[in-house]
Amino acid sequence: MKDHLVIFDTTLRDGEQSPGASMTREEKVRIAKQLEKLKVDVIEAGFPAASVGDFESVQAVANVIQDSTICGLARAVENDIRRAGEAIKPANSGRIHTFIATSPIHMEKKLRMSPDEVVERAVWAVKLARQYTDNVEFSPEDAGRSDPDFLCRVIEAAIDAGAGTINIPDTVGYNVPEQFGALFKDLLTRIPNSDKAIFSAHCHNDLGLAVANSLAAVQNGARQVECTINGLGERAGNTALEEVVMAVKTRQDVFDVDTRIVTQEIVPASKLVANITGFAVQPNKAIVGANAFAHESGIHQDGVLKHRETYEIMRAEDVGWSANKMVLGKHSGRNAFKTRLEELGISVETEQELNELFVRFKSLADRKHEIYDEDIQALATDNNNESVENESYKLVSLKVSSETGESPVAKVTLWIEGQEHTAEAEGGGVVDATFKAIESMVSSGATLELYSVSNVTNGTDALGETSVRMEKGGRIVNGQGSSTDIVIASAKAYINALNKLKDSAVKAHPQAGL
Ligand code: KIV
Ligand code: ZN
Repeated sequence: MKDHLVIFDTTLRDGEQSPGASMTREEKVRIAKQLEKLKVDVIEAGFPAASVGDFESVQAVANVIQDSTICGLARAVENDIRRAGEAIKPANSGRIHTFIATSPIHMEKKLRMSPDEVVERAVWAVKLARQYTDNVEFSPEDAGRSDPDFLCRVIEAAIDAGAGTINIPDTVGYNVPEQFGALFKDLLTRIPNSDKAIFSAHCHNDLGLAVANSLAAVQNGARQVECTINGLGERAGNTALEEVVMAVKTRQDVFDVDTRIVTQEIVPASKLVANITGFAVQPNKAIVGANAFAHESGIHQDGVLKHRETYEIMRAEDVGWSANKMVLGKHSGRNAFKTRLEELGISVETEQELNELFVRFKSLADRKHEIYDEDIQALATDNNNESVENESYKLVSLKVSSETGESPVAKVTLWIEGQEHTAEAEGGGVVDATFKAIESMVSSGATLELYSVSNVTNGTDALGETSVRMEKGGRIVNGQGSSTDIVIASAKAYINALNKLKDSAVKAHPQAGL
């Protein structure tokens, strides 16, 4: 019997900390439902003290998820712990994850606290969290650059205070596998009460080693891995859930652990997170990249056709690639559509919202014969973007012309704060002209940092999904739009980003200090 490896997903918390990846409550609930289907053990749903919106998102996730533990992050301060405790209250099973930095540089420069004060605060925080739940996790932030002797001291005290999970974060992605593995071995051997807690690895990918470091930790006694779908996360991202899970499953000869992950739900989860955040998956990304199971060279194809295992160590269908099936078409009725929405975890709160979505579905089905789950997810995200209350800008109409030898021109009509405005502009291409026309009306002053288009499914009639990243005054937002017409999708994405920039809600970053 192998040990169970706890899969702790932090897409909704550490993943969301990635600039521009912020998600609405509805989007977080949709992803949480997919994570539950995937059977992750713990969902870190957010940092409730960051803002009212973050608190409500964690609470909403805690309300709907039955089968995974719902975790809220809290710095070692009273308000954070109380907010986390309240947010996870509705959960069947709730956890508070509290943390304080332990590396010399963080203690001295960020916290301005002595090591003794840090130990005292860690113990106090764990005890306060235990007043809300028996399930408390403690992290010595920047453990990867902390003194191992000091780590032993603070972790022993945290376990004595009631922490059942000890998470070891390599916060800045500085460690290498041999070293990180050895750290786990050292801590598990030297800490006298280490058997009273599950040790967990939380790695960042700055050197491209997050998955390797996490697996080295598992080989040296870690029994929880913290990870995100597609490796989403600040800077170079976090440990990719799909890579850890498939490494453990594929190399059962090497790892003494098992997960309960339903691997067929991996690709749907990956697509959903990419669609909602606008962070596209690179084609050669392991497991979930579009090329991950494509065998191009003739020799490989021949080998695979003769005997699959010659060149394949995993089966595409085992990670959910075959889940891409036609689900609905032009003749599907409202009930079939509603049922599929429910199956995909997409909640529509009012009849009017359902009607709007159904009209969009019908119009898509007229242009595209086969409708896949990914199309429905994209429609829902797009609908969600457009029905945001108090949005300042809305696309009314768009007309473009493009002709060889002529400058492309776009004519755009927008609702701006309740009034219709029209502008025309020329550009290097029709998308450029469209963005210029919009900008001439809104004068956002923001910089366009990234523009990308991808297709949701195959074929030239597929929905095009467009992402833009805009920056203004150090604030970064991502906007998404989808349509079978990529110019319209681009305009929608641009307008979505402008609406996000207008939204002044400020949220605290958990790692900015106490
Ligand atoms: O990377 C990190 O240190 C974190 C902590 C809050 C656990 O995300
Ligand atoms: Zn982190």
